[in-house]
Parts: sequence; structure tokens; C-alpha cells
Amino acid sequence: MKIRAAVLEEFGAPLEVQELDLAEPKAGEVLVRVEACGVCHTDLYTGSGADPSGYAPTVLGHEGAGVVERVGDGVASVAPGDHVVTLFSPQCRECIHCRDERTNLCLAIREQQNRGFLPDGTTRLSRDGEPVRHFMGTSTFAEYTVMPEIALAKITPDAPLDGACLFACGLSTGLGAAINTAKVQPGSTCVVFGAGMVGLGAVAGCRLQGAERIVGVDLSDERLELARGQGATDTIRGGPDAVQQILELTGGFGADYTFEATGLVDVMRQALESARMGWGLATVCGVAGKGETLDVVPRFLITGRRIAGSSFGGVKGRDQVPQLVDRWLAGELDLEPFLSHRLTLDDVNRGFELMERQDGIRSVIGFAQT
Ligand code: CU
Ligand code: ZN
Repeated sequence: MKIRAAVLEEFGAPLEVQELDLAEPKAGEVLVRVEACGVCHTDLYTGSGADPSGYAPTVLGHEGAGVVERVGDGVASVAPGDHVVTLFSPQCRECIHCRDERTNLCLAIREQQNRGFLPDGTTRLSRDGEPVRHFMGTSTFAEYTVMPEIALAKITPDAPLDGACLFACGLSTGLGAAINTAKVQPGSTCVVFGAGMVGLGAVAGCRLQGAERIVGVDLSDERLELARGQGATDTIRGGPDAVQQILELTGGFGADYTFEATGLVDVMRQALESARMGWGLATVCGVAGKGETLDVVPRFLITGRRIAGSSFGGVKGRDQVPQLVDRWLAGELDLEPFLSHRLTLDDVNRGFELMERQDGIRSVIGFAQT
């Protein structure tokens, strides 16, 4: 079939919306009509050429939600008409990692996905007979996409898809960091560095876990206000003295749980140093630049602080994304403040511009009328 999609032709150049061919889903694959897709930093990072593992041409986009159109042979967990959230972090339920509760890093299709192929090593996307590679196994800046069954979370049809798409990446990453990785205990004190999509999700996750105090840290007053809206009880301006400010707010001890959601290694260090001696846990959610290293004074560790990394918030997507969506519909989460701009596919490059200016939290592309 012919589809319209935003293609990365050349690193650093704007995406080009054009017509591509999309082949039918093979065994274990699903054709999804994309209804909504968020514009995320990882798309921008790859599009800019900064990601050394990036490739072109490819169809970017990984924060998608849509409706199953057709399924390939052997697909049993979703059927035409089902509403789904796309998972760049799949869940096969069979590999050694999927069977272990300690991680969400499914091993089933990693290699092919990282190279831009579906699990059988080929693409369904093409142009004039030349293959066009997939991106993050999702390629959701497109009217339709073909994805592995194990990379789709089936959600309730009651959920508006323009909000549901946020659970495909940033929001689940933040929520999961607090719920799965840190396992924040009720009554605790938390600090969240960075109030973008991931940081605001972490604030909300700390609140859902029953944290008593949640300190939001950011450079923007506007974003600190959004952090308050998600449950932050205190806010401070970030900067070199952030650790000192946090120690003053916490009787000199630091916080039970800290979260880093900026991708800056200096801030990761601050997150560790503002965690409490004895049991403080710093969770790193941000992705640092290629080759950067984290500088840690070992004394902070030997006195009982710990540091953990979190990818997609430790969320096992097919099991947990539907649960998180249900909590949203039950009124436990307010997504409206995150949905700052609604765009069409043709405006995708404007979504990148808004993100670079830090204008709003998320631009969401809607496909209903394109
Ligand atoms: Cu993302
Ligand atoms: Zn797996």
C-alpha cells in the first residue's frame, strides 16, 4: 500500500514528507493505522546525526498510538480494531530478561531493530523498490506502520489516542523510574532533576507511590509550575548550588530517592550527591552524549548511596503500559498539561523547532484528517 511518511533523507536536514510503499505484515507482524505520535528528543537526536548508530533513509517516530488494521500469520494477542501503543522496547515474554522481574530489556529482536530491520532482517518500507529502513522498530511518523506483535501494547479503546501515545516513551519512562526502578516507598522524600516529559512523569510516579515530599528542579519557572501541577511540593532553580539547596531542604541529609531526567552528566552527579547517606538511591533516566562519563566520588557510595539506571522506566510494555493507561483514565494522571501543541504530519519539522526552543512539553501529530 501507499502511505505518507516523514523520511529522514540526510542528517541535519529537515524531514521530507513523501509517499512510500508499505508491504503487508508477515508472520508475527501487525499493520497499525497510526492515529497520534509524539515528537521526542530521540527523533531529533537521530535526525541531527549526533547518534553514531543512526542511518538514513529511514522513517522516524516512536511515540505512537493507533488502531490495528491487519495482522500477519500467527498473531494472537491483537486483532483488527484493537487500540495499541507502540513499544520501541518490546516484550516477547519468553527471553531470559522477559522472564525475570528485574529488567524490561527484552532480548528477542534487539539486533535487527538496532539496524533498522524487522525481526526477519528485512524491511516493509520501500521506495521505488529500494528498501527504506525502520527506526526503533516503530517508524510512527507515518499514516501506517508494520511492527512486530511483541512491540504492541493493547490498551482500552476508551483512551484518547493523542494522550495514549505519551505512554509509548517519555511519560512511561518517568512514571516507571519511580514505580519500577526506584520503587519509591510511601512517606519518602524525592527529588526530580529536569521537568520535561520524563521528569514530570517521574514527579507523577513519586506522587502515585505516596511520596510525602517531592522537590522539582529545573531552570525554567514555567516548567517548575508544571512540576507542581504533577505533585511537586517544593521547587528549586537548578544550577551549581542545587545540591546545597536540597541538603538545606532536607535537614542536611539529602533525599531518599533522586531522579535525573536531563541527560547531563553534571546533573547525574548532583542526583547522586543529593541522595541521602545510608540508603539514598539516585536513578538515572537521561541519555548522556556519546563518550561522556559520569564522575562519582566513591565516598558517596561507601556511605550507602546507590545509583541505578532506568531504560523506559523498567516498564515491561505489553503488561504495564495498559495498566498505566487505565490509571490515567481513572483520574490518577493529568495529561492535558503535557499536550502543548497539536500538529499534522506535514508540520513535523515544526515539532522539532518547538522542542529545541523548549516550547511546551510535547507536540503530538494527529493523523485523523491527513
Ligand atoms: Cu522518545
Ligand atoms: Zn523478551
